[in-house]
Amino acid sequence: MLDAFGRTITYVRVSVTDRCDFRCVYCMAEDMTFLPKADLLSLEELDRLCAVFVDLGVRKIRLTGGEPLVRRNVVWLIRQLGRHVRSGALDELTLTTNGSQLARFVSELVDAGVRRLNVSVDTLDPERFRAVTRWGRLDKVMEGIAAAKAGGLAIKINTVALKGFNEDEFDRLIAWCGAEGFDLTLIETMPLGEIDADRTDQYLPLSLVRARLAERWTLEDIPYRTGGPARYVRVAETGGRLGFITPLTHNFCESCNRVRVTCTGTMYMCLGQEDAVDLRAPLRASEGNELVREAILEGIARKPKGHDFVIDRRRRRPAVRRHMSVTGG
Ligand code: 5AD
Ligand code: SF4
Repeated sequence: MLDAFGRTITYVRVSVTDRCDFRCVYCMAEDMTFLPKADLLSLEELDRLCAVFVDLGVRKIRLTGGEPLVRRNVVWLIRQLGRHVRSGALDELTLTTNGSQLARFVSELVDAGVRRLNVSVDTLDPERFRAVTRWGRLDKVMEGIAAAKAGGLAIKINTVALKGFNEDEFDRLIAWCGAEGFDLTLIETMPLGEIDADRTDQYLPLSLVRARLAERWTLEDIPYRTGGPARYVRVAETGGRLGFITPLTHNFCESCNRVRVTCTGTMYMCLGQEDAVDLRAPLRASEGNELVREAILEGIARKPKGHDFVIDRRRRRPAVRRHMSVTGG
């Protein structure tokens, strides 16, 4: 699948639910209205849709949410998708999770063909963790991460950089990830959806963080890429990889290889734009896949050139109204 700007689309992120057992302050309002369950694609429909994407040349699928592991019976879907890994059609099947339910899923994930996980951890301090997730427990997440490591899964920790909140913890996170053998990626907050807080108070440019980290650590640029937007360095002191995802300070849209599908079957061609294509209607309109295939190609053909996130005092409104938990992180 080639878009109008010459980018090949090989990566689909599928949000299997917009629900989550956390309420991270930069992601959700405390009081969220979730989609009615009747609007969701069934797991069978999600499986069918993913098969069409694989057929169209997609090599990597990431399940996201909300929290993907809170969707009932999601393991069935993961196992189904695992067949594309076994057949060689997919290079990678992976998940982004908050880790809260991870411990009891590890062996099934491994059996299904999952090799790598992204786990979101914004702080290593239990009190702060409670504050940023509103409802989360760090010990549960740590238990999940330990189980995943013991099960042989490669782990990348995602940390959203929040001004005045975890600025003083990046050194500790680097040391911890280095010691555990995890990759670490720092992410700038993106203006997605209404939250209770003011995003200008949360926004911390990673250019600044990197400069500060470079005073303490030896950061060597490396060409490592995971097919995502992160730029990596190696931390010489720990040997670990450290990534920076900088949607605001550096726009990486020119190399974008992905689209996103929500749990209701809406395909967003860009995280930062409103344009979308409904895949649910064509999926349900016939048993064959021709209509949905056409709809996907039509959407790819109009994939926008890029996003234009801005966070400043003059632009207080989110760039797009939907939350990250709808489109998938
Ligand atoms: N900006 C940046 N990152 C976000 N995440 C959720 N909402 C936002 C936002 N507005 C992060 C989560 C998770 C990843 C999928 O996206 O913390 O690590
Ligand atoms: Fe849930 Fe992830 Fe959003 Fe936190 S950032 S509320 S864990 S979806």
